[in-house]
Amino acid sequence: MVHLNTTDELMEIISPTTIADRVSELGAKITNDYHDRPLILIGILKGAFIFMADLARCIKLPLKIDFVRLSSYGSKTESSGGIAFSKDIELDIKGLDVLVVEDIIDTGYTINYLKEVLKLHEPASVGICCLIDKKDRRKVPVEADYIGFDISHGFLVGYGLDFDEQYRYLPGIYHLNPGYKPAGFKPSER
Ligand code: IMP
Ligand code: MG
Repeated sequence: MVHLNTTDELMEIISPTTIADRVSELGAKITNDYHDRPLILIGILKGAFIFMADLARCIKLPLKIDFVRLSSYGSKTESSGGIAFSKDIELDIKGLDVLVVEDIIDTGYTINYLKEVLKLHEPASVGICCLIDKKDRRKVPVEADYIGFDISHGFLVGYGLDFDEQYRYLPGIYHLNPGYKPAGFKPSER
């Protein structure tokens, strides 16, 4: 358990070496699946920045890199379903294979929205790779093609993931305040 200068407590649930091993496995699978086809990675800022940087170096294909900035979260830990699109893609993806790199798929609203918008650019394909899949929390049916870890419970920070812009820089993945039970807490909720 990490005690910080704040009242927050962080409990490591995935170590940096476990992350590195899994990212390397994902990179090998993606390399194999796309063979020698050029691939465009589209990272969702800001949460995916560290995952994307590590993953890109584990994929042995001619890659191009782009980013979008979407947001379904402010300083809260609950999704609203409302999405802001504040940075669009810059590369032309028409006729090309695209792999969206996301930190966490939770309700699915964000990735579902992005997938639909990207399809308007007529890419050859749109795949989804996420570091963490909160499968049990979906509100819209959307599935990732590549999943780092399946963890539906708790609020996670570190390795790019934030709470209110804090903790992105941490090298492992942590449960934020694991013992904290907000008023009206139900076991199915984080
Ligand atoms: P969705 O639209 O509900 O799928 O929300 C996905 C986004 O919510 C992710 O890109 C994350 O930025 C954020 N998110 C969901 N769960 C967590 C968490 O446990 N920690 C940090 N961010 C999260
Ligand atoms: Mg976020």
